[in-house]
Amino acid sequence: MSKLHADFYADSMHQIDSAIERNDLIGEDTYLIRVAAEPIAGAVVPGQFVMIRLSGIDAPLIGRALAVYDVINDSDKNAKWIDLVYLRKGTFTSALAQAPLGTKVTLWGPLGNGFDNRVCDRLIMVAGGIGQTPMLLLGREAMGTQSFGDPGRANRWAPRVELIYGARRASLLAGVDDFRAAGFEVTLCTDDGSAGQQRLVPDVLADRLANVADGERIRVATCGPEIMMEKVAEICQSASIDCQVSMETPMACGIGICFSCVAQVRQEGPEEWDYKRTCVEGPIFDANRICW
Ligand SMILES: Cc1cc2nc3c(=O)[nH]c(=O)nc-3n(C[C@H](O)[C@H](O)[C@H](O)COP(=O)(O)OP(=O)(O)OC[C@H]3O[C@@H](n4cnc5c(N)ncnc54)[C@H](O)[C@@H]3O)c2cc1C
Ligand code: FES
Repeated sequence: MSKLHADFYADSMHQIDSAIERNDLIGEDTYLIRVAAEPIAGAVVPGQFVMIRLSGIDAPLIGRALAVYDVINDSDKNAKWIDLVYLRKGTFTSALAQAPLGTKVTLWGPLGNGFDNRVCDRLIMVAGGIGQTPMLLLGREAMGTQSFGDPGRANRWAPRVELIYGARRASLLAGVDDFRAAGFEVTLCTDDGSAGQQRLVPDVLADRLANVADGERIRVATCGPEIMMEKVAEICQSASIDCQVSMETPMACGIGICFSCVAQVRQEGPEEWDYKRTCVEGPIFDANRICW
């Protein structure tokens, strides 16, 4: 199991003011923004996030956490831009969706611990809703097509990468072309059957885990609605499969100060639990440590 104390405090983060260079609709109410953020792009590892707010505007005053979706290199192969994908939902994301190109945002990151990169034969990523956002970096690192972090983390740790990705309807699925282009085996699910299988993603995962070859080492990574991650965690626990979850508890500071983001996390004994700050001790946790 991963350790539970935070190695990744705010002293390794960078704060940047940067202009929005892309703000494209890529699905229903779903946008991709691109900003130059060189120190963050060069240091981020899969599963880490940034806090972001509109520079000089105090509504909302508090930043929002967004997972880093992609890292883009310049012509000298230096990591320069980050892409973030967001669902227009409330105060901040509605304002961001209307922000013209050139609007300044303030970002601080990279924050949080990130997924681990233990070697396995197959990584199965299970995403629901807007939970696909950390999966592009994770899958690329696993396959060895991109490396991340400063110093660079080991990549090529899972030769086979699958993504099981579900949403309420086809129009809400965003980034599918990116995942396919990255070489992931993509299975889509929708609640209304408008794309892929009309099933819930945990049910597809259960089928996969029922058909694992002898000795095949599987790891699961999941992000999405808590009820979905709880089901994924249960399935993995009963199959004795290692599973990491990316928790999306609402955050205020992102740097470990305010305790607004805590989740109940089991300690060593099965009955012992403590509140852990998702922003510094997470957002990635071993699934069977979460008290759902
Ligand atoms: C580590 C982390 C990574 C995240 N990555 C992404 C991402 O890549 N893309 C993305 O679109 N969003 C992501 N989020 C969620 C994001 O931080 C915002 O909470 C979300 O965009 C809503 O902000 P808003 O200002 O638009 O809505 P608000 O006006 O803040 O809230 C709208 C509604 O959503 C509820 N709400 C707010 N935050 C959360 C939350 N985290 N969980 C459940 N309910 C909430 C509020 O109670 C309210 O009902 C992430 C959150 C975390 C903690
Ligand atoms: S968001 Fe403030 S401590 Fe986690």
